[in-house]
Amino acid sequence: MSLWRKKPIERLIQESEKTSLKRALSAFDLTLLGIGAIIGTGIFVLTGVASAEYAGPALVLSFILSGLAAAFAALSYAEFASTVPVSGSVYTYTYATLGEFLAWIIGWVLILEYTLAVSAVAVGWSGYFQSLLNGFGLGLPEYLIKNPAEGGLVNLPAVLIILFITWLLARGVKESARFNNLIVFLKVAIVLLFILVGAFYVKPENWTPFMPFGWSGVFTAAAVVFFAYVGFDAVATAAEEVRNPKRDLPIGLIGSLAVCTILYVIVAAVLNGMVPYTKLNTSAPVAFALEQVGQNWLAGIISASAVITITTVMLVMAYGQTRIFFAMSRDGLLPRVFSRVHPRYKTPHINTWITGLVAAGLAGFIPLGRLAELVNMGTLTAFVLIQIGVIILRRTQPDLPRPFRAPGVPVTPILGALCALFLMGNLPGITWMAFFIWLVIGLAVYFLYGYRNSKLANAYPEASEKVS
Ligand code: ALA
Repeated sequence: MSLWRKKPIERLIQESEKTSLKRALSAFDLTLLGIGAIIGTGIFVLTGVASAEYAGPALVLSFILSGLAAAFAALSYAEFASTVPVSGSVYTYTYATLGEFLAWIIGWVLILEYTLAVSAVAVGWSGYFQSLLNGFGLGLPEYLIKNPAEGGLVNLPAVLIILFITWLLARGVKESARFNNLIVFLKVAIVLLFILVGAFYVKPENWTPFMPFGWSGVFTAAAVVFFAYVGFDAVATAAEEVRNPKRDLPIGLIGSLAVCTILYVIVAAVLNGMVPYTKLNTSAPVAFALEQVGQNWLAGIISASAVITITTVMLVMAYGQTRIFFAMSRDGLLPRVFSRVHPRYKTPHINTWITGLVAAGLAGFIPLGRLAELVNMGTLTAFVLIQIGVIILRRTQPDLPRPFRAPGVPVTPILGALCALFLMGNLPGITWMAFFIWLVIGLAVYFLYGYRNSKLANAYPEASEKVS
């Protein structure tokens, strides 16, 4: 059985030390990178439907709960990322610790997470784009902005923005840290502006009933708005470009998550205080709430800024996806075409276009809620596995230097994994079904292709002998 063959961890560390990438990022840059990847459609869009349909004003509790699940996982991410500071992601860590089979599963699940996240974020973006156009009296016809499930034909803006992003990525346009910092300041500024102005319009009576759908509604909403936290792992993918990864990675991961959690809880409270929750089921709830209280100008500014800043979330997600395809293909688990690099632009252009076309197709025809729920399912599965990975690695390689040690192992990662499983349990049956089908396809691809073509067995024969 070579299903459990592992990439030697020392080799990964050696590879990372030889990196040709410039180590230029500081803990501050990393925190901003995280915030840039985290704040997007989740807070700007999903808060509306989650309040209106599931949680009511108790949405603040849902954000705390899903933030907790993310925080537990962030501790494990930080331990892994500081121990094995190579680029890649939880896929790479798993390959070194739990073996090829589970790494494959994780990689497969991450493909779902990132690709669908691009689609979901694009649908959210489209909501604010329309809100902006409407402000100028330029609204598109309904059938071009709604998917068939909502009675339209296709969500055209969502499709077009993804094609644009794909084109940028295929040409090697990457966000520079400085550009990212600028965008993040804008993003945080509009969130703060919303909080500061919105607070004046809060009517405490809107907060009652606080929990109109009971605890089960709070839990369902938590499983949905968990989407708002997806993306902090982007910090870990920059590991090879960090000046002092052992110190800065944990700060970046945990810092960005902490900032976002605080902002989210306050936004949820203000939004539900401004407008009765029953009205919030719209595609641009933050702008909508401001319009309701007569702040049309500010609504316009927020929509315009959301359109600009949410775009970068798509860039980060699509970029992450192409690099995961690249890593899996380089390891021989996916066909070589996925790691083919464009001669001039030096980007994995074929896999970039595959990612973009699939994401665009899904964004055009599937509702945001369904997409986001599947993203959450994938991400939460990765969270469970990585937390188990931390426990296993402590046992199998206790002496490995760990500059950041997650506190309270094994109790904390077990609690974290249970938290993630609990949120997964609150996702609807149809999401489970789709996820299950995706896993079955993944197993088929692995056993028909990856298992036989894996480079690991030949490159490091000793690895396959370490059977556990
Ligand atoms: N957390 C990211 C967002 O909410 C994916 O857009």
